[in-house]
Amino acid sequence: MELISKSGNNKIYKDGDVIVKHYSSFSSTPCDRGKNDFNFIKYFWEKGCRNIPKPISYDEETNIGRYSFEEGKIIPVNNITSQDINATIDFLEFITINSQNDLDKFNYGKESCITTQDYINNMVQRINKLTNVHIRDKYDRKGKKILKKKLLPLFVREKDKFLNKNKNSKLKLSLNPGDFGFHNILKDGDKYIFFDFEYAGKDDIVKQGPYFVTHPYVMEMNEALKNEFTQLYKNRILTSKGERNRLDSIEGLVNLHWGIIQLNFLIPDFMHQSTDFKKGRLQTLNKYLDKVK
Ligand SMILES: Nc1ncnc2c1ncn2[C@@H]1O[C@H](COP(=O)(O)OP(=O)(O)O)[C@@H](O)[C@H]1O
Ligand SMILES: [Mg+2]
Repeated sequence: MELISKSGNNKIYKDGDVIVKHYSSFSSTPCDRGKNDFNFIKYFWEKGCRNIPKPISYDEETNIGRYSFEEGKIIPVNNITSQDINATIDFLEFITINSQNDLDKFNYGKESCITTQDYINNMVQRINKLTNVHIRDKYDRKGKKILKKKLLPLFVREKDKFLNKNKNSKLKLSLNPGDFGFHNILKDGDKYIFFDFEYAGKDDIVKQGPYFVTHPYVMEMNEALKNEFTQLYKNRILTSKGERNRLDSIEGLVNLHWGIIQLNFLIPDFMHQSTDFKKGRLQTLNKYLDKVK
């Protein structure tokens, strides 16, 4: 077996034409990420979706999932085309339509939003984790300063704007594939394979679109493609004017949420602590803050 990928979350091996995914059991997410990933893939495979790896087996005791090895490459951000954007919407539409009557079979997703207030609570929880940390170097100091002087005032403003506009909104739940983005899509010719559903679950139908299009991986994707994605998402995934308005009202908060995530290195036991890592994260954070006007 050959180790082909190692992230904080998992170790991935290639064994002939099989992918062996060993899910780590780190404590910040006690949910069964492995089981969740496998069940999601199995459910949609049985619904006829062939844009996912074929599920082979999942063993709860060892927390190991086996899937077909798929050819293809992650698309470099500057090569993403309108065809690729359309493929992501086709996939999301398939997932949404084919799970609508079966939502009770799925868990809630990581940071899922059942009420508008949940959008705020999720961010407050992350901010709380960043406020009482020890400063170890100048990057920690910079990070804390940006958090206090820039990010938190913007958060207060955007939160009030969002809550005012969505006072009486009742959210519509659908299935959110979780960590969805071009970093988790393989392309081989005209074929697309979507994977990595550890964090999938029931969530506000509006949420996935804006988080996808502001994911750090597509930070440098051209604006026309981002707009195309958002229009398609509004037309083909969302079902009402209220949902489309909610999507428009959430942009500031979503950028701030991604900004807060960049500061994870402040958490004492966070796995990446190198200077280069922190520098990169601070740059990305500033880009997110610049987008919140
Ligand atoms: N079924 C598969 N076929 C081929 N490569 C895969 C497959 N599943 C995962 N990989 C490779 O392993 C990497 C990490 O897999 P992923 O499921 O995203 O795990 P992680 O949660 O660690 O991000 C992918 O970017 C891809 O290169
Ligand atoms: Mg991944």
